[in-house]
Amino acid sequence: MTNNKPINLLEYEVIAPQHLSQMALDYYASGAGDEVTLRSNRTAFEALKLRPRMLVDVSQRDLSTEILGEPVSMPILVAPMAFQCLAHPEGEIATAKAAAALGTVMILSTMSTKSLEEVAQVPQHTNQWFQLYIHRDRALTRALVERAEAARFTALCLTVDAPLLGSRERDRRNQFTLPSGMELANLATMADLKIPKTAGESGLLSYFAQQIDPGVTWRDVEWLHSLTSLPIVVKGILRGDDALRAVEYGAKAVIVSNHGGRQLDGAIATIDALPEIVAAVGDKGQVLIDGGIRRGTDILKALALGAKAVLLGRPVLWGLALQGEAGVHHVLQLLRDELELAMGLSGCASIQDIDSSLVKLRRIEIGL
Ligand code: FNR
Ligand code: LAC
Repeated sequence: MTNNKPINLLEYEVIAPQHLSQMALDYYASGAGDEVTLRSNRTAFEALKLRPRMLVDVSQRDLSTEILGEPVSMPILVAPMAFQCLAHPEGEIATAKAAAALGTVMILSTMSTKSLEEVAQVPQHTNQWFQLYIHRDRALTRALVERAEAARFTALCLTVDAPLLGSRERDRRNQFTLPSGMELANLATMADLKIPKTAGESGLLSYFAQQIDPGVTWRDVEWLHSLTSLPIVVKGILRGDDALRAVEYGAKAVIVSNHGGRQLDGAIATIDALPEIVAAVGDKGQVLIDGGIRRGTDILKALALGAKAVLLGRPVLWGLALQGEAGVHHVLQLLRDELELAMGLSGCASIQDIDSSLVKLRRIEIGL
């Protein structure tokens, strides 16, 4: 008998549609506009070639590393993603349990369908970050930050690439909204905020237009520092000058991200933007990256170009849709195993051994 369990993340993506409503699948899978950026995140990884090093002792392979000064078992974090109960009744709780079991960080979205307090109660977790969207209502935003700090989230991840929501045309066609019984768990109790039903438009796009502040600037990073002592991570950076400004404004890390191709279509692929950002930030902060990570070799490439870790997006939702916590666990484990193999095959026994020579020819190596 053959084993039908998916053996890689792409197989999860192929099977996931059988486990999701059309509205949920379209919301999860889609990118903005023509989905050019969504595709380029993948093709840019594929275009980058590796230069493996031989005859290194790789009998032990250590994937552990450190993010914001805290240990993690592997350089793979779970990206913030809204509305996870669309995939599975346990939603964000299942994802948080799987991340905790694997010794890594889950980033919880402001737009979660389980409240931040419920997710914070997941046993054994030591390290969860809260992703923040700044609402026009600053008292509400401030209360969210205070709740995240009180619930012992260890960092605040400020997403800066969504002053307005990108145009995802499938959501527009579906008039995306949440099914009855599902809510914005962090916001419904505080302010009775809901994803509206909007004729001819995505309800989420309407929500952003009404509730999210499109006037956020660097001064608001200062404002956030005044509200919290949590480290701030800025997510959604695609240029060196913005990355430098983020660390100058006190961010401890930046996340190179185009929101999985869901915001500005035509934006640069994240792996193409990474080198400029690593050069601009230098040792002033850590650089993380997401978008199109589907193979262990993608992570090797990102780390070789100077990223400290990667965030995994949609494949987590596919795992969740198939099998809840066990599915997310399996997806993360598959990627971890692939990274371990890729390290072994390229002469890297530890994360510290992954350097830029794996992707770039250095003049010294050919005696020039
Ligand atoms: C997201 N993303 C996202 N980002 C964020 O800061 N807050 C959020 O609430 C969400 N919500 C969200 C929902 C869904 C369904 C997706 C697919 C993505 C973006 C996410 O954190 C990440 O940047 C990308 O998903 C990474 O790309 P891949 O791995 O999905 O290609
Ligand atoms: C999204 C938002 C919620 O990408 O970040 O759908």
